[in-house]
Amino acid sequence: MASVCIAAAPAFAQAPAAPHGSHAKLACTTCHAGQKTMTAPDQKVCLQCHVSYEALAKKTAGDKYNPHDSHMGRIQCSACHSMHQKSHYVCRDCHAIADRKFKGE
Ligand code: HEC
Ligand code: HEC
Ligand code: HEC
Ligand code: HEC
Repeated sequence: MASVCIAAAPAFAQAPAAPHGSHAKLACTTCHAGQKTMTAPDQKVCLQCHVSYEALAKKTAGDKYNPHDSHMGRIQCSACHSMHQKSHYVCRDCHAIADRKFKGE
């Protein structure tokens, strides 16, 4: 048993807390399948469940600066949304707009 624990240790040392919000109970491989080093998955992975940028834009249509429909285009979700740490609202890097709380964080 001891050797099993030692072999598994590096993987656990790298592992951050489980994702926050609605993804807390998903299997790690839902987002990290096929990755040699775990990092943010491509937006294709997110869109398997979240459908499309068009669908997301409708959910945030009330925003004057709609994060899902702007001159930035269809950038990676992870430019703003983090799963294991606080998200970063990238539009604020250039625009003087109010910060906002991200759901589930
Ligand atoms: C296996 C399906 C699945 C995958 C893959 C997935 N999500 Fe979700 N996500 C959900 C569900 C279900 C909810 C809760 C209902 C909703 O808001 O659509 C949710 C909610 C969210 C929310 C709202 C905040 C919250 O925690 O409720 C955000 C933001 C989000 N997802 C972003 C992402 C991003 C970015 C990715 C890719 C890194 C991703 N999701 C991958 C299923 C998924
Ligand atoms: C809903 C998708 C999703 C799920 C499920 C998920 N991750 Fe992640 N993971 C991400 C994203 C996005 C990043 C990029 C950094 C961030 O968002 O915090 C990441 C980054 C990481 C990293 C790189 C270190 C870091 O913090 O940047 C590790 C290690 C990791 N995840 C491990 C895990 C483990 C272990 C699980 C299962 C307990 C898991 N992930 C579940 C989306 C996910
Ligand atoms: C790298 C800097 C930069 C980033 C990041 C950025 N913008 Fe912009 N944005 C601009 C510039 C420059 C203009 C045009 C200059 C102007 O007239 O204000 C502009 C104009 C706009 C406008 C037209 C109204 C206005 O205030 O000028 C909207 C709406 C907008 N951006 C939304 C967004 C959204 C939503 C995001 C995040 C997804 C975003 N921007 C991220 C630089 C940026
Ligand atoms: C430019 C930053 C940015 C990008 C890129 C981005 N989002 Fe968002 N997203 C936001 C903000 C801001 C909100 C509103 C805050 C909140 O509801 O948590 C939001 C809200 C959401 C919600 C919750 C919608 C609701 O009201 O139920 C989901 C789900 C979501 N985003 C998924 C995604 C997915 C999937 C991608 C990639 C295809 C993506 N987002 C790309 C900034 C972004």
